Amino acid sequence: MGLVSAKEMLEKAREGKYAVGQFNINNLEWTKSILQTTEELKAPVILGVSEGAGKYMTGFKTVADMVKAMIEELHITVPVALHLDHGTYDGCYKCIEAGFSSIMFDGSHFPIEENVAKTKELVKVCAQKGMSLEAEVGSIGGEEDGVVGLGECADPDEFKKIADLGGTILAAGIGNIHGKYPANWPGLRFDVLEKIKAKTGDMPLVLHGGTGIPTDMIKKAISLGVAKINVNTECQLAFQAATRKYVEEGKDLVGKGFDPRKLLAPGVEAIKATVKEKMEIFGSIGKA
Ligand code: 13P
Repeated sequence: MGLVSAKEMLEKAREGKYAVGQFNINNLEWTKSILQTTEELKAPVILGVSEGAGKYMTGFKTVADMVKAMIEELHITVPVALHLDHGTYDGCYKCIEAGFSSIMFDGSHFPIEENVAKTKELVKVCAQKGMSLEAEVGSIGGEEDGVVGLGECADPDEFKKIADLGGTILAAGIGNIHGKYPANWPGLRFDVLEKIKAKTGDMPLVLHGGTGIPTDMIKKAISLGVAKINVNTECQLAFQAATRKYVEEGKDLVGKGFDPRKLLAPGVEAIKATVKEKMEIFGSIGKA
């Protein structure tokens, strides 16, 4: 069916009280394993691409063309959105041009008026193109691909200013962090999420930093309106552990074990298992 906007799948998720997973991609292996898993599980999916990952894959056009071709050649029938993760203003326009179906404009580091103004402009552009737009208020702690956040919680009034523009899905800083959570992490700020929900009603919300959030907190977040959960680090850690095991067991030294298709295969299987595990928790299996 080609790429779709994330809007419809997220509205369905919010109504059905489950969340669609956004899994970030880095290369062909990542993309293929996520697409194959999502098709097997009949789950909708969002492929996230950070600006760093886009550059690594030689540019957003390469990414968009690869994903579109893979959807066709793997006979993927479930809804797939290709989404820019934590985009800059310029990055958003590059992805619109390259053929993405969804973008995130991360204006969270701008003063709220500037965040609102730029988001408003992009709402218009995305509406014309039939694309979904994610905006952010407050920041996600930690670092992802050079995007560093202090982890300030979203101010519900500022949040409402962007929500009132219409046409967006919204990510809120609610104590979530990119990467691994420290042992002394106090957990998600459900009090902030509840205030946001009270101000914004039923719009689909986005939870970043999906790696390592305990299942009960994920379920509670979904019950409070979260309809999209981003996962990146967890697939990287699974890939790393499986690849390390293969090499440490000396399997790369036996026969043609050095062949990249063999060397990367355990990592690919590990990504598939992680995606499946997350989709089970998010409740998105069979919802395509
Ligand atoms: P993690 O790397 O913590 O899973 O976060 C992913 C994310 O939020 C992408 O925007």
